[in-house]
Amino acid sequence: MRETREKVQLQPLDHDLAFLDITTEWDLSSSYHDWRPSIAVPATFVPATIPRVIAICNQKGGAGKTTTALELALALIARGLRVRIVDVDDQEASISVWLRYYMDDRPEELRYNLRDLYFNAKVKLSEASYPTDFENLTFIPSFPDLGEVDEKNPVGADTCLQRRLRQGADDVDVTIIDCGPRLGQLTVSALVAADDVIIPVKASSILDMKGVAALQKVVNVVKDTLNPDLRIAAAVLTDFSRSKMTRRIGGSLARAYPDAVILPARTNVKVGEAQLAQQPLRQFAPRETTTLDYDLGARVLFGLGAAA
Ligand SMILES: Nc1ncnc2c1ncn2[C@@H]1O[C@H](COP(=O)(O)OP(=O)(O)OP(=O)(O)O)[C@@H](O)[C@H]1O
Ligand SMILES: [Mg+2]
Repeated sequence: MRETREKVQLQPLDHDLAFLDITTEWDLSSSYHDWRPSIAVPATFVPATIPRVIAICNQKGGAGKTTTALELALALIARGLRVRIVDVDDQEASISVWLRYYMDDRPEELRYNLRDLYFNAKVKLSEASYPTDFENLTFIPSFPDLGEVDEKNPVGADTCLQRRLRQGADDVDVTIIDCGPRLGQLTVSALVAADDVIIPVKASSILDMKGVAALQKVVNVVKDTLNPDLRIAAAVLTDFSRSKMTRRIGGSLARAYPDAVILPARTNVKVGEAQLAQQPLRQFAPRETTTLDYDLGARVLFGLGAAA
């Protein structure tokens, strides 16, 4: 076991940085020349209350789910909220690989992980939850064998995460579930456990919108059966740059989800550089556009003011 490191304290960001404007609708009426991208927060949007469970979903791979999960989590802990990230992705390169750099124990020393919560009723949520070096950030890791949930469909799998998270409801303010690029049992269980869905969509790819249509069908089924209060709270336009296509994609999402926030997460070379440095963007480049977008997005989602 390596030495315990000091906790990383993240601070709220300065007010004078280049945050996007907040508008009530996604602007499709001005001429393209005059269009200024903004965070669209419809008048009907209801900010999330605490405690809250948020599932970050899109079956399209590489849409920006993990980036969104991590950056929103860090924006929230910087404002003093206690956050738990749940890794519901069985890929090798999941958020657990990221977060293991920020743990006091190495992954091979982890006794329990998310898979155990689906297959072993005796394992408690707290036993599969681990602190990180970030103050107020815990996570439930997973490894490729989590895929057995989709393969074997253990009894009660669809409601498992919901039941488990209720066991530790008082331990955190916000739970963020990072889903994998699949619409199987694991993603369904995340949707059953969630209050809100956030859908990242690569603003540069029309293909991600196809993933959104498929996800919508699953969300509808979950709402009709196990979780009637589930709502789509936001769509995040990742890798966002100003173009006619991104404007149109934002417009389609705003039409499809009239009560949801449409949040551009501007493209930035620092996103890749932060990955190389094995740091979250918030820590690596706290003053860069994408960091600011997630920071303001997190504030809007929870109705938090500019100050902490
Ligand atoms: N705002 C952004 N600007 C530039 N690049 C971005 C942005 N957001 C995400 N990316 C890049 O897009 C790639 C995919 O991001 P990410 O891993 O978050 O997607 P994902 O949906 O979690 O993928 P998977 O489906 O495999 O889990 C990463 O290389 C990431 O650095
Ligand atoms: Mg991912």
